[in-house]
Amino acid sequence: MNKKILIAWAGNYDSTKEIAQFIAGIIHGMGGSVGIRSVDEIRTITPYDSVIIGSAARMDKLLGKTLRFARRHADELRRKTTAYFVSCITMKEDTPENREKATGFLQPLCLIKEPVGIGLFGGKLEYNKIGYLWKTLSRQDNTGPMAEGDFRDWAKIRDWVTEVGPKLIQ
Ligand SMILES: Cc1cc2nc3c(=O)[nH]c(=O)nc-3n(C[C@H](O)[C@H](O)[C@H](O)COP(=O)(O)O)c2cc1C
Repeated sequence: MNKKILIAWAGNYDSTKEIAQFIAGIIHGMGGSVGIRSVDEIRTITPYDSVIIGSAARMDKLLGKTLRFARRHADELRRKTTAYFVSCITMKEDTPENREKATGFLQPLCLIKEPVGIGLFGGKLEYNKIGYLWKTLSRQDNTGPMAEGDFRDWAKIRDWVTEVGPKLIQ
């Protein structure tokens, strides 16, 4: 019997949510039963067999609400199959250094429950959406982890889901 999968996403804007929706569509196409919710809305994960947690990064960490969600449900997560992804500007270039750094962002989740896969994805940052102070700071270095642009690589995300999806569904 196919398992029920929850995609729990956390972002401040829309780009992580859009990645979560894209992943949900692929899993649905694989025949999986998938629910998708913001970590802010999730009261229980009990009905699900597998959980994908996906989060934006901020100041070299996953968003605080992502970690609070995982810690709140840690006991149950340990009994489920999990996979994690991060969407961040660090991964605008897929280099060994950037992979190591982004893997570090996911480490607190991996310590709660070893996942069947981790996804390290470029994110999206638009200066006109962030606060004045961040915008000013970011413009001083538009090459690092605050570079403006849409760095999501949909083919890479699809490849990741193709690999981990079956482990979550079956
Ligand atoms: C205030 C702020 C701080 C950020 N800090 C980091 C960071 O330290 N490292 C990084 O790789 N990305 C950083 N980012 C980039 C976000 O993780 C990235 O833009 C992500 O795709 C945003 O997802 P969202 O649209 O779902 O909020 C930061 C973005 C913002 C707005």
